[in-house]
Amino acid sequence: MALNYYKNELKENAQLLASKGKGILAVDESTKTVGKRLAGIGVENTEENRKAYRGMLFTTEGLGKYISGAILFEETLYQNHQDGESMVKKLNDLGIIPGIKVDKGLNPLPGGGDVETFCSGLDGLVERAAKYYEQGARFAKWRAVLQITNDGCPSKLSIQENAWGLARYARSVQESGLVPIIEPEILMDGDHTIEKTAEVQEEVIKQVYIACQANGVFLEGTLLKPSMTVNGADCPTKGDPMKVAEMTIRTKERCVPASVPGIVFLSGGLSEEAASVYLNNMNTNTLYRKALWNVSFSYGRALQHSCLKAWKGSDVEGGQKALIAIAQANSEASKGAYVAGSQPSSDEQLFVAGYTY
Ligand code: 13P
Repeated sequence: MALNYYKNELKENAQLLASKGKGILAVDESTKTVGKRLAGIGVENTEENRKAYRGMLFTTEGLGKYISGAILFEETLYQNHQDGESMVKKLNDLGIIPGIKVDKGLNPLPGGGDVETFCSGLDGLVERAAKYYEQGARFAKWRAVLQITNDGCPSKLSIQENAWGLARYARSVQESGLVPIIEPEILMDGDHTIEKTAEVQEEVIKQVYIACQANGVFLEGTLLKPSMTVNGADCPTKGDPMKVAEMTIRTKERCVPASVPGIVFLSGGLSEEAASVYLNNMNTNTLYRKALWNVSFSYGRALQHSCLKAWKGSDVEGGQKALIAIAQANSEASKGAYVAGSQPSSDEQLFVAGYTY
């Protein structure tokens, strides 16, 4: 089977994932990364605890009203809830589409700058994606990471390699029926201005779509997951929420094709509240957006931070209450209807330098 066979389904699923008022829950942290989150609340990183945590998320009543899809790590896609039912069934019961992280992580890029990486996992990807489809996944994610430095990163080589990798991945998983989420993240590390981020991001995203065209990626069956256009975490100028929204939308309008149904932002270390406010501003009428793609969220940290703290290893009800509140806040933000402070959400900066997922 191949891309042509899946075209209608890919388009339908991409549209469902990009439904108005819904976003994506990114819970695809690798075993190592989720360990750091669990350590933050004093919980040991065992398979049982990971299962308990994610099982709590996936049985939150009403979550499907705000969340269209959940990105899983491979372990979770094949895992059962403590009650014996599969996690996939739990998500399907909520009306949430299961997705899967298919990249195999970042490696140093030979010939690139010190901080530069390429993303691995292309070998055997068509076959691997077919197995994930069989297991119930309907979309995939691949995260390429670029960093802005004062000595010229991202280099041309890194932009080219990461754009090409994203496009090869996208085409490969489409061959097996999975909607690719194309994620070219620009890290917040550094002291650069928002204007610099915009300039780099424009170039990166343009190259991503040039590579997609070369690989015959079916854009109607994809989603873009970029970072917002913000200044570096160490930039002396503090971010102005309306400017972030304007610059983010301007950047995307300059380079994201109209055939892409949705843009779902990552939170990248923004606080929960900032991630909601910036998204809300992007969806307010005063921005006069020219493009029709749905503008929503695919947050990891900015959806889970308060929830993890409330759960603390055993408080299922508390964790679910925090999750549904933050999901509702971001659903409202995706419609330009979020009132800052209307939901319990945290202002704590979630940025960590040199972050890996
Ligand atoms: P954050 O929202 O925490 O940046 O994570 C989203 C994600 O999926 C990173 O790949």
